[in-house]
Amino acid sequence: MGQGLFVAIEGIDGAGTSTQAELLANELRREGRPVHLTREPSDGPIGSMIRQVLRGRLVAAGSSGRPLGWETMALLFAADRMDHLKSEIEPNLGDGIDVVTDRYYHSSIVYQAETSGEPATWSWIRTLNQRARAPNLTVILDVQEKVAQKRRAARRSAVEIFEEPELQARMAAFYRRLPELLAGEPFAVVDGNRGIDAVHELIVGAVQSARLRQGT
Ligand SMILES: Nc1ncnc2c1ncn2[C@@H]1O[C@H](COP(=O)(O)OP(=O)(O)O)[C@@H](O)[C@H]1O
Ligand SMILES: [Mg+2]
Repeated sequence: MGQGLFVAIEGIDGAGTSTQAELLANELRREGRPVHLTREPSDGPIGSMIRQVLRGRLVAAGSSGRPLGWETMALLFAADRMDHLKSEIEPNLGDGIDVVTDRYYHSSIVYQAETSGEPATWSWIRTLNQRARAPNLTVILDVQEKVAQKRRAARRSAVEIFEEPELQARMAAFYRRLPELLAGEPFAVVDGNRGIDAVHELIVGAVQSARLRQGT
């Protein structure tokens, strides 16, 4: 049995990564393929801790309320990623199950590099993640920050620490540069400003091409 197909869905907050990851997983299942839908931060021990940090709910005693620095966040995300890979992603792919992940190391590169205040640090973050395998396809949902902001407002879930419009706009621009920075990795940049179904169709097309390349 061959390996499953590994697809990552990426973009800024409100780009629609969760919506589209779920729709893609459902579509592949409809085609009769076994699929594991997952997300980062993962649901493992380190990922659960990161989610608390992102919601401002985890501040250690003795830290005088100081938030965790971007380097610490980058290391936590990288640690969660290795755990996610070893415990969830690789076992599923090895069993011939497709894996669709809502975010992957591209989020680390974009978010931690932009919150560091020195975007050149992206290459350090890439190094931290060097042992994490590249997806067979990474879909970047390219959205205007104004569009994403409206969606975030409508979603009404807990606001996370990175959800500032100016930061999100810089991250959207960074996502557009990723295919050039990570040349050689398979990317599909999709117009995420369009409606949910139109975006889904574009993603399905990109995944079909990736499957042809992969022979799965
Ligand atoms: N293409 C789209 N057009 C309109 N609304 C969308 C679209 N994609 C997602 N949404 C809505 O926007 C909100 C945020 O989507 P979500 O998938 O949670 O974004 P993300 O996971 O990227 O932060 C949700 O309420 C979702 O239903
Ligand atoms: Mg989401």
